[in-house]
Amino acid sequence: MRVQGPGSRVQANPLAVVSAEVPPASVDALLEAPALCGLACAAWEDRERHTCRVQVFLARGPGTSGPSGAAAAALRAAGRQLGLRLRPETRVLPAQDWSESWKRFFRVERISARLVVRPSWEKYAPRRGEVVLVLDPGMSFGTGRHATTRACLVFLDRLARENPRRSALDMGCGSGILAIAAARLGFAPVAGFDNDPEAVAIARRNARRNRAAIAWQVCGLERNRRRADVVVANILAPVLIEHAARVAAAVQPGPAGALILSGILDTQYAAVRRAYETQGYEEVESLLRGEWRSGLFQASPRTPAPAPPAPGGEIGRVGVAAAGKAHGAGAAGDARERRGARRRWRRRHNKGAAGAFL
Ligand SMILES: C[S@@+](CC[C@H](N)C(=O)[O-])C[C@H]1O[C@@H](n2cnc3c(N)ncnc32)[C@H](O)[C@@H]1O
Repeated sequence: MRVQGPGSRVQANPLAVVSAEVPPASVDALLEAPALCGLACAAWEDRERHTCRVQVFLARGPGTSGPSGAAAAALRAAGRQLGLRLRPETRVLPAQDWSESWKRFFRVERISARLVVRPSWEKYAPRRGEVVLVLDPGMSFGTGRHATTRACLVFLDRLARENPRRSALDMGCGSGILAIAAARLGFAPVAGFDNDPEAVAIARRNARRNRAAIAWQVCGLERNRRRADVVVANILAPVLIEHAARVAAAVQPGPAGALILSGILDTQYAAVRRAYETQGYEEVESLLRGEWRSGLFQASPRTPAPAPPAPGGEIGRVGVAAAGKAHGAGAAGDARERRGARRRWRRRHNKGAAGAFL
């Protein structure tokens, strides 16, 4: 799927939306459910009927299998976690509905001292020293609006200002925004991976749009062999804890090493910090944005470096593929954005956008 500039038409497959009616009191919890992580969601409220409809937007037409089947299953699973029996329905959206409704939620936005995110259809004249990232609006996580993504970008910007002569690795790249930012801030070589092939396809396309040279890979944390000086992982806390040894081992030992951990609710942060202290890392700083806390870590000088994930895994040695080879599309989301958008929506009798945050 492709959304183009104002006045242009979406040319590829029509969008489908999978939706289910949800009691208003359960909407917030549903949008935060891990099962909906990575999906582009919106919530609409009918105040007269006192009902809400949670929607998952897809870049493809409907079907019982594939994205719409998976989205329906994700909605049902998220509902079950809350004791709800949701009955998802799927329908095709006229392409223009999608582009018009989504555009409202994405604007040019300054994220950190130097980083500015620009939706592809908006114009922006960068000021001196600014680094502008152009991102596809289809993946809200790619917009950098989620608190967890923003915190990672703030840390990356700062680390790059301190010393850009470092390699970087984005674990769980989603739309690729963090790896792209790292490359545009001067880190090299840069690599990114995700266990979702659609996310990697989107990341490739976004990297090409931003002329960022990044080595992408479809890979799970558990199979990662790459190492870099700066490692950023914006993934949910339970995953970060479960794979703490692997994530920590992905940081190249040495004074340039830094680890950014995000996707962590403030209430879960202490457990994540402990897991990485066990791996020989100490917190340098943490950032609280809403209910999300993100941390910058470095190897504790008192602890020996962790064993490498596997020989030959340094990014510099595996080589950096030229950005590009776009194929596929998809969406990622973030609960924070979904909630923010939903509030805007409520004012106008509906609610809006985003996933795993999106
Ligand atoms: C919250 S999104 C972050 C996206 C992007 N890095 C950002 O900061 O906006 C988390 C991403 O991690 C990926 N992910 C989750 N578990 C993973 C795992 N075990 N291995 C690799 N990727 C994973 C998801 O598919 C998703 O794209």
